Amino acid sequence: MAFNLRGRSLLTLRDFTPYEIDYLLKLSMDLKAEKRSGIFPRRLVNRSIALIFEKSSTRTRSAFAVAAADEGAHPEFLGINDIQLGKKESVKDTARVLGRMFDGIEFRGFKQETVDTLAKYSGVPVWNGLTDKYHPTQVLADLMTVMENFGSLKGLKMTYVGDGRNNMANSLMLGCAKMGMNYTIGAPENLWPEKELIDYAKDVAKETGSIIDFSANPKAAVKDADIIYTDVWVSMGEENKPGIQERIESLKPFQVNPELMAATGKGHTIFMHCLPAHHTNGIHDMEVVEEVFESKASKVFDEAENRLHTIKAVMVSSIVG
Ligand code: CP
Ligand code: NVA
Repeated sequence: MAFNLRGRSLLTLRDFTPYEIDYLLKLSMDLKAEKRSGIFPRRLVNRSIALIFEKSSTRTRSAFAVAAADEGAHPEFLGINDIQLGKKESVKDTARVLGRMFDGIEFRGFKQETVDTLAKYSGVPVWNGLTDKYHPTQVLADLMTVMENFGSLKGLKMTYVGDGRNNMANSLMLGCAKMGMNYTIGAPENLWPEKELIDYAKDVAKETGSIIDFSANPKAAVKDADIIYTDVWVSMGEENKPGIQERIESLKPFQVNPELMAATGKGHTIFMHCLPAHHTNGIHDMEVVEEVFESKASKVFDEAENRLHTIKAVMVSSIVG
């Protein structure tokens, strides 16, 4: 089934149907094959895209810049210290200015409300490159990577262990629910997602046949998992918040190590991480050990590469349809 996503913003995966997500994943696969074959149709010639970053980035910024270059568009990086946003100008005014000049706007920053406001007032597609609440473009790359490894998504089980209420845990819950994948969060109960989001994901899951589940026991959480996913225990902007040391202590049993990988009971379980990662040789205070991070089961650099292809699919489909 073909869709026309022209003019659509990607603020959260809530806004996209399973069919639309599937369409974007298939388009991403085609664009990856195209690039591998050296074919560059340059669908975005004479277009310009704005890249606003309130927080640091390696993958997201690079993926948008290279995807734009591959398609013949001009990417303009607007670092938070270079523009008026948040200092002399409101988000609403910035949105209206950028919308007069650019064909699309990427935003990475703190509040989900900021990216929502940019979309509301700019009149051009806006793409969420990460907020405190969601990281939807990352999840598209993750789903693509799962597809490359298993051939399809429906019925697979992903277990996310770690900070179960951060942007990745939230967005993966939506992505899995939409695509009929079973999704379990293994985390202490105070680090599970907010109730409204769980209720929404469970409603979606009822439609797609997926099971959304939570456990405070790491080994029970990963049982039967085809994919173990983790992320940093302290996200960007949280470093100096109260209670972080207690959080790290409470997450130590959820570290991904060979014992946890074996606890799935499945020989084929893959390891995923959005990166950047803290991987460690023995010190018991980081989310994944070196032995797993560097193992054959680790697909983290495929995920990183797939950021480029999925972001390109999002840009092309929302700018030219
Ligand atoms: N995964 C991800 O979003 O990486 P960056 O922070 O480097 O963009
Ligand atoms: N949860 C992490 C994701 C980084 C891509 C953060 O927000 O820092």
